[in-house]
Amino acid sequence: MFTKELISKFETTPTPFYYYDLSLLRRTLDTLFKAASKYGYKIHYAVKANANPEILKTICEYGFGADCVSGNEVLKAIECGFSPSKVVFAGVGKSDKEINDALAHDIFCFNCESIQEIQVINQLASQSGKIARIALRLNPGIDAHTNKCINTGLEDSKFGINFNYLEDVVKEVMVLKNINLVGIHFHIGSQILDLEPYRLLCQRSNEMQQKLQLLGLNLPEINLGGGLGVDYYNPDQNPIPDFENLLDTIHQNLDVREGQKVHFEFGRAVVAQCGTMIARTLYTKPASKTTFAIVDAGFNDLIRPALYGSYHKIENITSTSNETETYDVVGPICESTDVFAQGYKLPVTQRGDLIAFRSAGAYGEIMASRYNLRDLAKAYFFE
Ligand code: LLP
Repeated sequence: MFTKELISKFETTPTPFYYYDLSLLRRTLDTLFKAASKYGYKIHYAVKANANPEILKTICEYGFGADCVSGNEVLKAIECGFSPSKVVFAGVGKSDKEINDALAHDIFCFNCESIQEIQVINQLASQSGKIARIALRLNPGIDAHTNKCINTGLEDSKFGINFNYLEDVVKEVMVLKNINLVGIHFHIGSQILDLEPYRLLCQRSNEMQQKLQLLGLNLPEINLGGGLGVDYYNPDQNPIPDFENLLDTIHQNLDVREGQKVHFEFGRAVVAQCGTMIARTLYTKPASKTTFAIVDAGFNDLIRPALYGSYHKIENITSTSNETETYDVVGPICESTDVFAQGYKLPVTQRGDLIAFRSAGAYGEIMASRYNLRDLAKAYFFE
């Protein structure tokens, strides 16, 4: 829902572009802050969802940490004000340079995904005279009931260390002199709306804790990752995800020992709803089974529909027509997958109409490319 004033600003801005509602972002962060404070949970924002500096700086004001998956994300988060002591670094394939950069900044923790990776971190840490804090990212073998492209906790997924190898890995890690094992880490997937997988995750974490205790270990940090989903169908009715319900569920199911801290890494739930991609209708044309609405944004600007078949609510925000028509909303890229939606009902749409793609704040701008040598869409923060 956009005000007339806002739409008039959109009218004079070159399309396509991303518009971010910082006031909604702040309300979302307030809600998350409150829900997490109730149990003393530590929140790290998953930078991969959106690394726009304005957004990072706003999130940083709340005292949250940053969850990074590349050396550049680590550097960007620190540049935008996140304290290195609150930066965690995950990823199945950290390069030596990325590890060295993170060591140089004394980040809080490497979330490690294989024994070889830990050995390399140990070696690099020893060369620079450091002790690296690490957590073991365990693959819990849980189906998060989400799109198969973003379901990461299944046993055959490339992520994490299979939980059956926990004891073996711990024994190998304990002898490494420049490694300080501080915790366990999980991340079971993204856009998760069903809380059952989180209950299972708590159970798995409890089992892992018992195994660790048998080895004489009581690790101070448990990181349950991110994944909470948003309502792509009703962004106006549900602009802020129910963090409280999720964190209450975790509190009820997770065993937390004296002195242990529980961490989360939310990306989408923080930023999806505050972002909208605005495009302009270039042409419409009839075909035998449909009418195409051809807009000036393509999958290079917002790839989620083409890559995952994801739904984004689409609105014609300038049409004055009371009639509706069904369209295939497509972009200008020279590929047949450059389709945002098929059979989508919109008010009768004409050349020049502005089209809003809602809930595009997460994995939108950040996944853009210059394919077809198109310019990157800019970001705006009109009040
Ligand atoms: N932690 C780790 C280790 C992750 O891999 C991810 C996301 C997150 C946290 C944050 O998850 P979130 O809270 O945003 O669900 N591009 C896809 C989503 C990929 C998610 C990758 N990992 C999409 O557009 O749906």
